Amino acid sequence: MAVRRILIAPHPLLKLKARPVERFDEELSRLLDDMLETMYRAPGIGLAAPQIGVSLRAVVVDLAKEGEPRAPLRIVNPEITWYSDELVTMEEGCLSLPEQFAEVTRPRAVRLRYRDERGGEHELEAEGLLARCLQHEVDHLDGILFVDRLSPLKRNIIMRKLAKARRARA
Ligand code: NI
Repeated sequence: MAVRRILIAPHPLLKLKARPVERFDEELSRLLDDMLETMYRAPGIGLAAPQIGVSLRAVVVDLAKEGEPRAPLRIVNPEITWYSDELVTMEEGCLSLPEQFAEVTRPRAVRLRYRDERGGEHELEAEGLLARCLQHEVDHLDGILFVDRLSPLKRNIIMRKLAKARRARA
């Protein structure tokens, strides 16, 4: 396993619609393992392949708390097949928007159909933090960042802060 570099917004690869995975092979397994390693190192609770520059529909998630055993989810070609009518507002962050957080409103619960790393089909229903995380990660596969779900004003404030942080590092 290897830790990969996480792309920071605004990066053109983060805006692309990712392609479906067609081959469930060793290479896909390695990609998902690298994504998990990268996410744990960051640390974060979710990571989508486009965030490491791979334009494929693959996501990893692990909501285990510190001190609990790891509980990685490897999610390939996800499709949200149902959204609850009820919406909730929660604070979100993103490894591609370091140190930026904002309240985002989304459906409270979703149903997700996806494949595992061997191509097996699964379906899960999620609410709370998992539903939130899955929607955020599936958005990444369509080139959507959480700031794209904010008002233009709030989005611009965050993007300006990111640009300022980048200049300070340079
Ligand atoms: Ni993200």
